[in-house]
Amino acid sequence: MCNGRVKELAYFYGMNTLTAFITGANKGIGLETARILTGKGYHVFIGSRDPASGAKAIEQLQSEGLKNVASILINVTKEASVQEAYKELSRLIPRLDVLVNNAGIPGKFPQPATTADDENLKTVFETNFFGPIRVTRIFLELLKKSDQPRIVNVTSDLGSLTLHNDPSWVYYAFNGPTGKYISDYGETPW
Ligand SMILES: NC(=O)c1ccc[n+]([C@@H]2O[C@H](COP(=O)([O-])OP(=O)(O)OC[C@H]3O[C@@H](n4cnc5c(N)ncnc54)[C@H](OP(=O)(O)O)[C@@H]3O)[C@@H](O)[C@H]2O)c1
Repeated sequence: MCNGRVKELAYFYGMNTLTAFITGANKGIGLETARILTGKGYHVFIGSRDPASGAKAIEQLQSEGLKNVASILINVTKEASVQEAYKELSRLIPRLDVLVNNAGIPGKFPQPATTADDENLKTVFETNFFGPIRVTRIFLELLKKSDQPRIVNVTSDLGSLTLHNDPSWVYYAFNGPTGKYISDYGETPW
């Protein structure tokens, strides 16, 4: 399912128009990324798992004068939904220049390591870990058709191996679950 200027897209299929697809772009960092890339001349496809949210984001950007946008329905945790989004995008554009794996969730808080429930953790991993892998695997063929394809994975400082190896970093050598165990059981005389 795709909203926006689908009928006019043929106009943008010229060799020089770059295309970008951003997952979870109906709000937050994804929407801002869409705003910036559209402003730079990209034709941007906003991934959203809810059609109304996608349409609202398109409306917002178009009201700001940013016209080269359309929305694509995608839930990154569902293989069928990602396949469907790929089919839709392949129908609309001959190649994909930029894929931004942005969709992500923090999960329910607090998440004490000693009591965090499996369902919560599984949902977070399905979205933040398996999601980008699934989307990248499925969209790879369309990316390969670009002369200069880019894949951008949005993450956090806590996911950076570089920072984890930088002694000056505030969370240097900090391992979330281990740290929580220590703060929960630091006084236990084992
Ligand atoms: N904001 C921060 O401080 C921060 C820090 C570190 C990392 N990040 C990362 O930056 C990215 C964007 O974060 P944000 O702050 O902009 O978050 P946000 O405002 O909550 O936006 C997250 C987006 O991801 C979408 N999404 C969630 N689960 C999805 C799924 N299963 N399938 C498809 N879309 C899904 C959401 O859709 P709905 O609107 O339908 O919920 C929303 O569009 C995330 O990957 C996050 O982990 C953010």
